[in-house]
Amino acid sequence: MSDTLASLRADYDALVARGLSLDLTRGKPSKDQLDLANPLLGLDLGSDHTDRAGTDLRNYGGTDGVVELREIFSDLLGIPVPQLLAGGNASLTTMHDVVVHALLHGVPGSSGAWVGQDVAFLCPSPGYDRHFAITEALGIRMIPVAPLADGSLDLEAIETHLADPAVRGMWLVPLYANPTGAIVDEQTARALASMTAAAADFRIFWDNAYAVHHLTDEEFEPIDILGLAAEAGHPDRFFVFASTSKMTQAGAGVAFFGSSPANIAWYRTHSAVQTIGPDKLNQWRHARFFGDASGLRAHMRRHRNLLAPKFALVDRMLTDGLSGHATWTTPKGGYFVTLWAPEGTASRAVQLAKEAGVALTPAGAAFPYGTDPQDSVIRIAPSMPSISDLEAALEALVLCVLLAEAEKSA
Ligand SMILES: Cc1ncc(COP(=O)(O)O)c(C=O)c1O
Repeated sequence: MSDTLASLRADYDALVARGLSLDLTRGKPSKDQLDLANPLLGLDLGSDHTDRAGTDLRNYGGTDGVVELREIFSDLLGIPVPQLLAGGNASLTTMHDVVVHALLHGVPGSSGAWVGQDVAFLCPSPGYDRHFAITEALGIRMIPVAPLADGSLDLEAIETHLADPAVRGMWLVPLYANPTGAIVDEQTARALASMTAAAADFRIFWDNAYAVHHLTDEEFEPIDILGLAAEAGHPDRFFVFASTSKMTQAGAGVAFFGSSPANIAWYRTHSAVQTIGPDKLNQWRHARFFGDASGLRAHMRRHRNLLAPKFALVDRMLTDGLSGHATWTTPKGGYFVTLWAPEGTASRAVQLAKEAGVALTPAGAAFPYGTDPQDSVIRIAPSMPSISDLEAALEALVLCVLLAEAEKSA
């Protein structure tokens, strides 16, 4: 055994002996972040429960959602109010339902239901595991698309795949992607809007989950994706999703769905069968709590104050511990850092960390079918632990990556 391996093993034994119990798995807001929205829970609405449209928010109805809240998000997402609906508490539910509706009924422009056909989705990877879980669970073939060396979308590869009429969808997080933090710029958005697709009903699931979740002073403005698509002659290409999950309280927020007039009419038809209306009182409380778009942006800066030091700590500890061994992202927003461990070591490093009491997202989770072809990506979610727990977890992670690397080259 080499001296390095022996010394790393000794350090690892000492780490295990510490009996840590830490969790870096999911990108959940911390308790401090959730507390920022506590005034929302105590809002006394009194007799203030009729929105401008005249809907009694306590009752059934108002299926498009509270207009005052849709106006705030229209501003943040760059989507006209009539094309933006406010719904239940989770955008993931809307994404799932949209895929199910497409399978059962097709979408505007489809020749029929998708089910029974060979349907494939492009999956820029590493990507969001829960997107891939939806398509996998619903029997949709997933095609991974690796990023270019600079982390941007490989438009050429996407265009090549779009020549296949089976390709009906693509998952995409345009801003601060989970987990890479990648940003789709306007030029790329234009290219996606105008690209030729063999399937007339090709849809991009534009999941703008992190539209206002900035970690720096560079607060990116929303891209008018629906406008670009209409201009390019593909008005129905984009389904837009967003939610307040990481703005107020993740389990009790409001989800949004935006799209072209034809897609919105399609969605209304199918969702009307599912519900007689969303929780409008919660939407109303959110509208009252934020006040307006600038109130919401100010609220997000309070999140940034809690999150940015954690991301800075991750970057510092990876720089100190893994420079020359691994690479990682320094995102300008969102909830994740992606670490590329030496090829062929991510699963082992995650296993070592687990055995030392540090839970990490399983290696491979950021890829369709859980398969990372390089066995290299480790997703770090720094939001939830305290600074001191984060420091201990990263110290352990660094050691586990170095040990996995040393074992591999032994
Ligand atoms: C890209 C992305 N989309 C959606 C979600 C979940 O959103 P929601 O809470 O609205 O279902 C997450 C949560 O981590 C996410 O990272």
